[in-house]
Amino acid sequence: MINYTNEEIFSVRFKNLSKSFGEAKILYDLNFGIHRGKITTILGFSGAGKTTLMKLILGLILPTEGEVIVLDTVINKIGELELREFRRNFGMVFQYAALFDFLTSFENVAFPLREFTKMSEEEIKEKVLSLLDSTGISIEAAYRLPSELSGGMRKRVGLARGLALDPHIMLYDEPTSGLDPITTHVVYDLMRDTHRRNEHRGFTSIIISHDIHATLKYSDYIVFMEKGRVVEHLDVESFKKSENPVIRRFLEL
Ligand SMILES: Nc1ncnc2c1ncn2[C@@H]1O[C@H](COP(=O)(O)OP(=O)(O)OP(=O)(O)O)[C@@H](O)[C@H]1O
Ligand SMILES: [Mg+2]
Repeated sequence: MINYTNEEIFSVRFKNLSKSFGEAKILYDLNFGIHRGKITTILGFSGAGKTTLMKLILGLILPTEGEVIVLDTVINKIGELELREFRRNFGMVFQYAALFDFLTSFENVAFPLREFTKMSEEEIKEKVLSLLDSTGISIEAAYRLPSELSGGMRKRVGLARGLALDPHIMLYDEPTSGLDPITTHVVYDLMRDTHRRNEHRGFTSIIISHDIHATLKYSDYIVFMEKGRVVEHLDVESFKKSENPVIRRFLEL
């Protein structure tokens, strides 16, 4: 059992968090934390409320009840301007990479730097090329459009863009959906390498996934959600041994 009273070890905490959309209750009184400096995967069947939870972490939607606390800021209590600034703490990689189609890889990664920093053109170039290099994008591919890249390469560019502002927390929503099994592992390796390179500064990775095999291989902690509730939150070794029937069923898929 994870002890939630030692608050310093979490970079995200949920307190009595509920979320409804109209009459439909989606999340039920969640109380847990996501470990700082670790890779946590949120697992669960479709419709469990995983993406909704991610949107709450980012402050894109407001809870119906309770609090979302990110790095000691109650994210649902701050104003729009402060929130915009606060989001620099996050890097996001969405399903299907969500790159700007009309911008090259280079310009996609440069975008947050142009938007949020006062870096010179020279500094931007150096930073972007180093980010693209660290995610395995060649100089030649840096000047291509997303439509000229493979799915796996688009993910790499998406990851480089997510890392541009040196975030404290990386959020990945289904980062490997639509990829073949080999590319899936390449993307997971990349997420893990990225995590390891940044973990000295308390970097936290939160991955939403359906992919049970990759999850067991790459995560430190697993949060298993079902129908808006957390069924189990364990370190990966304990999770593998869970006797909860819902989880056993998931593990045997
Ligand atoms: N803006 C919204 N308005 C109304 N209902 C919503 C809204 N967003 C999500 N829902 C509902 O909330 C439930 C949980 O959705 P959510 O997208 O969080 O699930 P998920 O666990 O991410 O599923 P998946 O694995 O399919 O992505 C679903 O029943 C969905 O229809
Ligand atoms: Mg989802």
